[in-house]
Amino acid sequence: MITSLSVSGFKSLESVGPLQLGSLNVFIGANASGKSNLLEALRFLQGVSFGFTIDEVLNGKPKTAASEVWEGLRGGSKQAGFKRPKGTASRPRFGVELRTRSHRSIHFGLQFSPNQRVVVEESLSTGPRPVYETATLKQDRTTRTIQARYNDPEGKHHRLTLDASRTVLAQVRNSLKFDDQDDELAEECAATLGNVQRLDFDPRVLHLYSQGSTAQRMGERGENFAAVVAAIKKSKDSYAAYLDWLQQLSPAPSDEVKVLEGACGEALFALRHGGNEFPAASLSDGTLRFAAIAAAFFQPSMPSLVLIEEVATGIHPSRLRLLLDLLKSQAEATGT
Ligand SMILES: Nc1ncnc2c1ncn2[C@@H]1O[C@H](COP(=O)(O)OP(=O)(O)OP(=O)(O)O)[C@@H](O)[C@H]1O
Ligand SMILES: [Mg+2]
Repeated sequence: MITSLSVSGFKSLESVGPLQLGSLNVFIGANASGKSNLLEALRFLQGVSFGFTIDEVLNGKPKTAASEVWEGLRGGSKQAGFKRPKGTASRPRFGVELRTRSHRSIHFGLQFSPNQRVVVEESLSTGPRPVYETATLKQDRTTRTIQARYNDPEGKHHRLTLDASRTVLAQVRNSLKFDDQDDELAEECAATLGNVQRLDFDPRVLHLYSQGSTAQRMGERGENFAAVVAAIKKSKDSYAAYLDWLQQLSPAPSDEVKVLEGACGEALFALRHGGNEFPAASLSDGTLRFAAIAAAFFQPSMPSLVLIEEVATGIHPSRLRLLLDLLKSQAEATGT
C-alpha cells in the first residue's frame, strides 16, 4: 500500500505533500484545484512501473502483444511540467512511501524531464538503506543513458549504465548482479505502483452486455461490469454482502441481483423486484453507478489501489454518507 505521496512541479501541482495516505482517501476541492492531476500523478507512476518509456506514459502507447492500449496523460508531455505564469515548465518530481506485504517500508523517488522525456534522478531505498540511486552528474543527454549505483550483498559498489528513457526500477528488476532481496524490493515496489485500477464509469457502458460471462476485474468505464457481478455471485458471502450494500444504497428497490445471459453467454446486469426483472438497459444511471461502484469493491481480483474519479456524480446527497461507509469498510476489509 502507498502510505505517503509527494508531488511537485507536475501539472498544476507546484508542491504537494507529503500526503499521509490511509486506506480510504477522499480529495475534495473546487473545479481546477488539481484533484484529477493528483490521480494522474498516480497513473504516471503506474505507467513507469510497467516499464513503459516516459514518452509512452505521457503521450500514449498502442496495444501490443504484451500490453493493452495505454492512454497517455491529459495534455501529454507538453502539459506535464508545472507552468508558472510566463515561466518555464518545471521538471516533475515524485516521492512515494510504500509498505509491503512483509511490512517493509520502501521509498521511491523519481524526477523526469518532460522535454527530453528522460529520467533525471531516481532512487529506491528501504529505511535508511539505499537500494540504488542515480549518479546525476554522469548523465549523458546525447546517448540518453543514466547511471545507477548500488551495492551488492558483499558491500561492493557497482554502476550500471541504463536507458534514461525509462525508469531504473523497470530495468534493474531481475538483473543478475542485483542482490536477491533488493530485487524482491524493486519487484514489490513496481507491483504495488502498477496494480492500480482507475474507474471512471460511463452509464452508457453499464447499460450494455459484458463481453464474457464472468470476469475478475472491471474495465475503466465499467466494461465487464455484469461479468464481474456474475463472478461475485459465485461466492455466497460476497454476493450476500454486495446485495446488502446495494439494497441500502440504491434508490431502486431490489430483491435480487440477476445476471441475464445473451445468445453467446454474454452477461447483462439486472435487478429483480416484486416478481419483475429489470435489465440494465431499463435501470437508471444512478442505480447502475451505485451497483458498479459497489461491485468494484467485491471484485474477485482486487488491485492494490482503486482510483475513482468524481465518485459522487449522479448520487443523491442523502446517500453520500452511506457510499463513504461502503468505501471505507470495503477498503479496510479487502486491504485495497
Ligand atoms: N502544466 C500545467 N501547469 C500549470 N497548471 C496546469 C498544468 N496542466 C494543467 N494545469 C491546470 O490544472 C487545472 C486542472 O486541474 P484538474 O483537472 O486536476 O482539476 P480538478 O480538481 O480535477 O477539477 P474538476 O473538479 O473540474 O474536475 C487547470 O486549471 C489547468 O489549467
Ligand atoms: Mg477532475
